[in-house]
Amino acid sequence: MSQISIAIDGPAAAGKSTIAKRVAKKLQFLYIDTGAMYRAVTLYVLEHGDKIIENISEHIDITFGINDEVYLNGTDVSKEIRSPEVTNSVSRVSAIGEVRSYLVDMQRKISRTDSVVMDGRDIGTTVLPDAEVKIFMQASPEVRAKRRLLEETARGNTIDLQTLTDEIIRRDQIDSTREISPLVQADDAILLDTSYLSIEEAEDKIIQLVEDKLEV
Ligand code: DC
Repeated sequence: MSQISIAIDGPAAAGKSTIAKRVAKKLQFLYIDTGAMYRAVTLYVLEHGDKIIENISEHIDITFGINDEVYLNGTDVSKEIRSPEVTNSVSRVSAIGEVRSYLVDMQRKISRTDSVVMDGRDIGTTVLPDAEVKIFMQASPEVRAKRRLLEETARGNTIDLQTLTDEIIRRDQIDSTREISPLVQADDAILLDTSYLSIEEAEDKIIQLVEDKLEV
């Protein structure tokens, strides 16, 4: 049987990774966090400089562990890729053509061998335009900033709500207006506003969409 792909796109902190992870577990599909891949490249670029982008494939290998840990050249960088330094630079690095084509290739390869739930910004439009189910996940900036605040507090970081709101709005602005594969809703994607949905409700809605589509 051929592989099935579910694409989940949307702005920062709309709930994509939390919900995509749960959907993948339920369907027994592979979960691929493409934002984590752009973050891993950004971490490497911050440490080694932009020059490495010219022959990126010789420098960077990214793999995922069974608990969704992110490995950069064999080292678990799951924590480091969430640092403020990486978050502040990731939109700039992910707008670079060479970075995108390298990662998009990698993402397409994975989807050829495994059924996936893939989340990001350009999955339904560029990476997997033939995905069986496409979701565009949205939530108001206030709700998204509050969710991020809870995550950061849980990680032991102290940061105020206004700083997080500003960061989210700034990143969305760069991601939506870049030249290559900007963040836009695919014509055939279903809009899911999670502002007033619980995690379980959002998950159930996606599972329902998948079941309707695949008639399982
Ligand atoms: O999902 P996230 O916030 O961890 O993503 C980090 C950044 O990576 C985001 O600001 C834009 C970029 N990104 C992208 O350009 N394309 C993707 N498919 C996923 C993320």
